[in-house]
Amino acid sequence: MVEVKNLKIGFNGKSILDGVNLTVQDGEILSIIGISGTGKSVLLKNIIGLLKPDEGVILVDGLEVTQMTEFELNKYLRTKMNMVFQYGALWDSMTVEDNIRLGLKYNKNFSKADQERIVKESLSMVGLEGIEKKYPAELSGGMNKRVGIARAIALQPKYLLYDEPTTGLDPVLSNTINDLIVKLNKELNITSVLISHDVESIGKISDRVAMLYHGKIVHICNAKEMWQQDNEIFNKFIHGDKSLQ
Ligand SMILES: Nc1ncnc2c1ncn2[C@@H]1O[C@H](COP(=O)(O)OP(=O)(O)O)[C@@H](O)[C@H]1O
Ligand SMILES: [Mg+2]
Repeated sequence: MVEVKNLKIGFNGKSILDGVNLTVQDGEILSIIGISGTGKSVLLKNIIGLLKPDEGVILVDGLEVTQMTEFELNKYLRTKMNMVFQYGALWDSMTVEDNIRLGLKYNKNFSKADQERIVKESLSMVGLEGIEKKYPAELSGGMNKRVGIARAIALQPKYLLYDEPTTGLDPVLSNTINDLIVKLNKELNITSVLISHDVESIGKISDRVAMLYHGKIVHICNAKEMWQQDNEIFNKFIHGDKSLQ
């Protein structure tokens, strides 16, 4: 379980998150929606310890991550939690195999044979066999995204944070990624936090939806019931009402 309690962070005197409270239950897919620039990525980066809040605490399985050193974060948090970044974030100069091996760097105990097996299994899980020796430039955008996900699951994380995994992909590729998120959730039991603007898909693949607005979670609901809510801000957002600022 991830517990975010009264999280506050700002940059250059401007408050971005102003008391976020949110709990992510084990096994669920929780989607976070909100206007661009509202702090969704900042929230995920706080959860995985890439940013430190000004106030508040985050507990992951009861351990407070907000006070952890980089060493502790790598040892206790990033072995069980990983993030899929918005733009895939693969290294162009490295093969697919070497990119995925990067995901193993927090654990020094893997033999070469183990590493090869893990790379193979991770690629197989995302439906990409036999591309170990290819470079990112030789792959399509959708394949790059899936390699990014393969890297993120290499250590069999309990938690995955996805930052806009389908933004910029065509509807068919978006469906492939959405199906993959559900498959990893069901087959590997990966608790998932997903930032997405694709409200239609969110309703289909998530368990719950939370809306971040003006620094706070203003509404959270069952995803299957997201089209029947009585929260005005939430409704305006999912219907694309331009009066929402
Ligand atoms: N490391 C940083 N330093 C300064 N400002 C930042 C930093 N990260 C994010 N911001 C600012 O915080 C705000 C929220 O950003 P972000 O979380 O990326 O929004 P989004 O909801 O679109 O993901 C933006 O105004 C952004 O410019
Ligand atoms: Mg973002």
